[in-house]
Amino acid sequence: MFIRILVRLTQTDTPSQDAPSDVSIREFDVADMRGCVEIAAEVWPDVPETMTVKEIMKLLKAYVADSSAMATWREVACASDEVVGVVFGMIEGDMRPFDRFKMALLRSRIWLGFLLHGRRFALARLSVLAKSALTEMKLARARPDTDAEVTLLLVRSDHRGRGIGRLLMDRFLQEARAKHAEVATVYTTDPGCNWQFYETCGFELVGSFDDTLVSHLQGVDTKALVFAIDLRLKG
Ligand SMILES: CC(C)(COP(=O)(O)OP(=O)(O)OC[C@H]1O[C@@H](n2cnc3c(N)ncnc32)[C@H](O)[C@@H]1OP(=O)(O)O)[C@@H](O)C(=O)NCCC(=O)NCCS
Repeated sequence: MFIRILVRLTQTDTPSQDAPSDVSIREFDVADMRGCVEIAAEVWPDVPETMTVKEIMKLLKAYVADSSAMATWREVACASDEVVGVVFGMIEGDMRPFDRFKMALLRSRIWLGFLLHGRRFALARLSVLAKSALTEMKLARARPDTDAEVTLLLVRSDHRGRGIGRLLMDRFLQEARAKHAEVATVYTTDPGCNWQFYETCGFELVGSFDDTLVSHLQGVDTKALVFAIDLRLKG
């Protein structure tokens, strides 16, 4: 793991163009959860030997719900009434008293639901939770001080390369700036995610570590990458 101080930005994060004409951006609704999970399943199709497809779907549902539980900003991109992109993010300036406590409760409920799902012996699920906790501990060490965080960003494969990801990201960063956030971060993995996208949005790599959870799920050694952008420098 290494931490690099953020000293410069090589790219701008000025707002990109409007949404493509067939795409609209709106606030996330709980009915959108299914569409978001379907995109997540497309991004992470691998099923480890120790888990059934049903359990993996349950895990993805829990993952998307958890990313939502940590967020104060939730938007989706829709085309023909279908969700084709999603961004969830947390902005410190939007947190109210007790929000952190409520988030912790909600997250515990989500993961307990995952653990206790179905009758099948839960050892594989327990192992996933233990690896997830270990990865979160490593992430807490690798992440710089931050007051805005992208917790989920996905675009459906048939709509990628159309500026939707950038638009969702820009809108989140604009809101974070409006709420006086100074540093925004995002955690992603390699392989498995298009992390280069974050560099085009103006983020810089500030930390990395072995991702215990994703390595286990994908069955290949996977690096966790932590990216950050200094919101005070550009706007
Ligand atoms: C990463 C992701 C959200 C990008 O969404 P997108 O809508 O295709 O991205 P955009 O069309 O808005 O592209 C914005 C910029 O990023 C660049 N970019 C996008 N994907 C890229 C990739 N895989 N490699 C390099 N650059 C990429 C584009 O070239 C574009 O650059 P430009 O502004 O200089 O033209 C999408 O590929 C995705 O959902 N991937 C799977 C999940 C994932 O990797 N999520 C993020 C990490 S967890």
